[in-house]
Amino acid sequence: MKSKYKLGVNIDHVATLRNARGENFPSVLLAANNAINAGADSITVHLREDQRHIKPADVIDLKKNIKKPLNLEMALTKEMLSFAIKTKPKYVCFVPEKRNELTTEGGLNLFYNVYFLSKAIKKLKKNNIKVSLFIDPKIKNVEQALKLNADNIELHTGTFCNLLNNKNKKKINLEFERIKKTAVFAKKNNLGVHCGHGLNYLSAKKLKKIKEILEFNIGHFIISDSIFFGLTRVIKNFTKIIKN
Ligand code: PXP
Repeated sequence: MKSKYKLGVNIDHVATLRNARGENFPSVLLAANNAINAGADSITVHLREDQRHIKPADVIDLKKNIKKPLNLEMALTKEMLSFAIKTKPKYVCFVPEKRNELTTEGGLNLFYNVYFLSKAIKKLKKNNIKVSLFIDPKIKNVEQALKLNADNIELHTGTFCNLLNNKNKKKINLEFERIKKTAVFAKKNNLGVHCGHGLNYLSAKKLKKIKEILEFNIGHFIISDSIFFGLTRVIKNFTKIIKN
């Protein structure tokens, strides 16, 4: 039976590796297709203003050549809005963006720049692009997402994942309950509930207990753990070539 739960695979860091050499290897498109063949339900990329990993050409290439939905994470800017409307990914997820951050540090402030955010959501929806808002797990953010007429919310799981690493049971439970309460409230109000940031096997397993969460978006850990799954095989390939 097909599961209703979805896995979105973020391949930003394949591009990070590619850009380290300024060449075309490893291919972002090949990584996306491998992810899809392995069971990914969608492919996520974050086109940052500084284009430190994904480039506009990657988004266009992926949109044309993958058979599963493309989810474009982006900042709320005029330039990104017109790029999204031209490229037409199936989903756009608005995320906050700071130039000097290593990764997205928190959820989007839905109470700032409300007029432009609301206009952007309307425009995207008119172009048949579903809109998700990346938010910290708080009821007031869901209420605002409803007012803004978003299709989905993506709950920021970074705090939960960090707490799991520190093993403070009381704080872990509090954050879990906060995510659960927010997810239940959002689902009850017909918003699609996604989650992401910092997820690994353990945190995904724990959060799967919240039945309202339909989609898990995972990037850094997937690419990192793939090194350890692939390293032995690749070294063996080379020992055959060099030592035989
Ligand atoms: N979801 C959103 C909205 C993100 O900004 C990110 C990071 O780009 C992720 C999910 C994936 O996070 P991670 O790479 O830590 O798995």
